[in-house]
Amino acid sequence: MGRLQGKIAIVTGGADGIGRAITEAFAQEGAHVFAADIADAKGEKLVAELKAKGLAADYQHCDVGVEADIRMLVEAVVTAGGRLDIIVNNAAIALGGMPIYDMTDEQWHRLININLTSVFRSCKYALPQMIRQRRGSIINMASVQAHLGFEGWTAYAAAKGAILAMSRQMAVEFGPHNVRVNSVSPGSIATPMYEQTVAEIGEQLGRAWVKMHPIGRIGKSAEVAEAMVYLASDAAGFTTGMDLRVDGGAAATPRFVPDLV
Ligand SMILES: NC(=O)c1ccc[n+]([C@@H]2O[C@H](COP(=O)([O-])OP(=O)(O)OC[C@H]3O[C@@H](n4cnc5c(N)ncnc54)[C@H](O)[C@@H]3O)[C@@H](O)[C@H]2O)c1
Repeated sequence: MGRLQGKIAIVTGGADGIGRAITEAFAQEGAHVFAADIADAKGEKLVAELKAKGLAADYQHCDVGVEADIRMLVEAVVTAGGRLDIIVNNAAIALGGMPIYDMTDEQWHRLININLTSVFRSCKYALPQMIRQRRGSIINMASVQAHLGFEGWTAYAAAKGAILAMSRQMAVEFGPHNVRVNSVSPGSIATPMYEQTVAEIGEQLGRAWVKMHPIGRIGKSAEVAEAMVYLASDAAGFTTGMDLRVDGGAAATPRFVPDLV
């Protein structure tokens, strides 16, 4: 029996990158997983592959930057599955690599909307259902950037730092309803987002980022997905208000990028 047997789960940004690995891992562990994304073709293809293996998966278009999309996502999943056990708020964009004074108001609001307000929205719509059923696990995707300073990523780090604070607050507030809220902070993980970021910042800084991880390499999406499976599962029934770092030790070291270039 899988570690998530019979659970109903949503993964935002579930069509590609780390989200895709989470969708796959949840389905393999027996959950009925709803991948929600704006990359419709990728999401549909992934779900078709999982269904062909006999796993339970569905795809739903959802732009996490749009409140109505998140409301409809939660409603559709609860209608189809009868409840909602797990929501992973994973979708985000990488917008940075610039000093804060070069960022426009529009860029700031876009990043905060997609990376942070989206988490507020999905918790707002998921929590009443989880409270009603007296059971739920919310897992919010943070980042090593919530723990360490990097040049050029102030807005992204502001969103990720706020996700840590939100997750702690909600863990305290909704623990009495048996709803657990945790976050995961990955280091650099090989995904389309990471490759795009390294292409923008340059090879040299990219190599320095690798060296920032004491384990000597960047991470794999499946390694983050494994942490998500644990936090989503009943094995973590007494774990809430926690940030689980999956960062190869990056946040444990005082090494700074410029020293390594
Ligand atoms: N890759 C890393 O090194 C790394 C490190 C730390 C934290 N993270 C975090 O992990 C999460 C996943 O990152 P990734 O590297 O897999 O990114 P990615 O860009 O490779 O994949 C992101 C997925 O989210 C989807 N998405 C983007 N905007 C969306 C929107 N508005 N609505 C719905 N879906 C949307 C994309 O279509 C894609 O499927 C993000 O929260 C990111 O901040 C990534």
